[in-house]
Amino acid sequence: MAALMDTRILLRKIKDLRCLTPRRNRVKAKWAGSQPKYPATNLALQNFDATYSLQLGEQWPSVRVSMLCEQKYGALVNNFSTTEGVIADLQSQGCRDFICQPVGVGALERLQAPGFPLHDNPSTLESVGVIQDLAPPRLRTNIKCFVFPGGDISRFKPSRPDLYGMLGYYLMDAASILPALALDVQEGHSVLDVCAAPGGKTLALLQTQAIRFLCVNDISVSRTYRLQRVLNSYVPKELLTEERMRITSFDGRKWGEIERDTFDRVLVDVPCTTDRHSVMEDENNIFKRARTKERQRLPQLQTELLLAGIEAVRPGGQVLYSTCSLSQLQNEYVVERAMHLAREEHGISLQVVDLRPITRLFKDTFHFAPDPHLGQLVLPHLTANFGPIYMCKLQRLS
Ligand SMILES: C[S@@+](CC[C@H](N)C(=O)[O-])C[C@H]1O[C@@H](n2cnc3c(N)ncnc32)[C@H](O)[C@@H]1O
Repeated sequence: MAALMDTRILLRKIKDLRCLTPRRNRVKAKWAGSQPKYPATNLALQNFDATYSLQLGEQWPSVRVSMLCEQKYGALVNNFSTTEGVIADLQSQGCRDFICQPVGVGALERLQAPGFPLHDNPSTLESVGVIQDLAPPRLRTNIKCFVFPGGDISRFKPSRPDLYGMLGYYLMDAASILPALALDVQEGHSVLDVCAAPGGKTLALLQTQAIRFLCVNDISVSRTYRLQRVLNSYVPKELLTEERMRITSFDGRKWGEIERDTFDRVLVDVPCTTDRHSVMEDENNIFKRARTKERQRLPQLQTELLLAGIEAVRPGGQVLYSTCSLSQLQNEYVVERAMHLAREEHGISLQVVDLRPITRLFKDTFHFAPDPHLGQLVLPHLTANFGPIYMCKLQRLS
């Protein structure tokens, strides 16, 4: 009853404030006639209710409510800025680096165990030819990403530039760092980022400070400009030279025709239904009726992009496929189809790399889907409201 009274008082106050706002500054509600009968966000929810309730079963209500709540961010520390002050500031706010300081009982033991990484239940993965991750048992990386503790929904302050104009951190969904971590870039590697804009994962890859040559691509010219601006704010000019980096705006599907068998690592972070955005924002929403065909064509586009990434990587190299969707049609089925086409049409054989060591390492920060058929999926959860992020790593054998 008291809560109801409080809400009524609050609503009255908001109404009073509206009267105080000069008419010219008031936001006009949309004309009823021009308002869509079914907003795209509703269509997205209807679609997800129908498909994800089957796919995720009893997990779906919890994932659904989390996607409709405020998403949690992580602060990717910029190693090219003066980091001491930045890290001290983040720590003083109660954040921790989830990569260097995994939490929970036995977290450090999990990192250091002699047999790590381990197979829990290899039989579930045999059908697609899964191999263990060849990464060393300890995750050696310079990537640092700070998060507030589980259940703490504090927001980060905007990052400030240091004396040299470099921003101290980049705010992004902390689960988006996982594909860059899972790609396991080693010293001297050449790396291709096929769909790179606006550049969060590119920036994470650069933080490894191990890449010899980075090729950054996105089909959208305007988004590539945005990516360029991000790089200028975070990376010193000396590292943005032609010898170290190439920025292009090609159709990634054509990469196999441009450059084959070349890169040590390829990241294919494809356009998808961006599930969280689709249930929250009507603007630029792929569930708008006018974009139905574009949405239906996504799995085909994603398959072609992954296939191009597979052609671009050298034999022995690795490709990481990722989306920010829960959809099996855009995740597992795309990987299976691309592997099939690679074998049948290009004679390329691949094996899926087991990413369970990564999920075991970060299980206290993220909520992973319990029994993925192929790859790994971060499920949004109210106590860890990151994701969704799907990732699957492939090693090219021939
Ligand atoms: C999920 S976003 C990438 C996000 C980015 N990796 C990051 O971490 O900031 C997908 C991107 O794919 C790009 N894209 C769509 N079709 C493409 C194509 N055929 N070739 C290359 N890029 C494409 C879009 O412009 C969009 O920027």
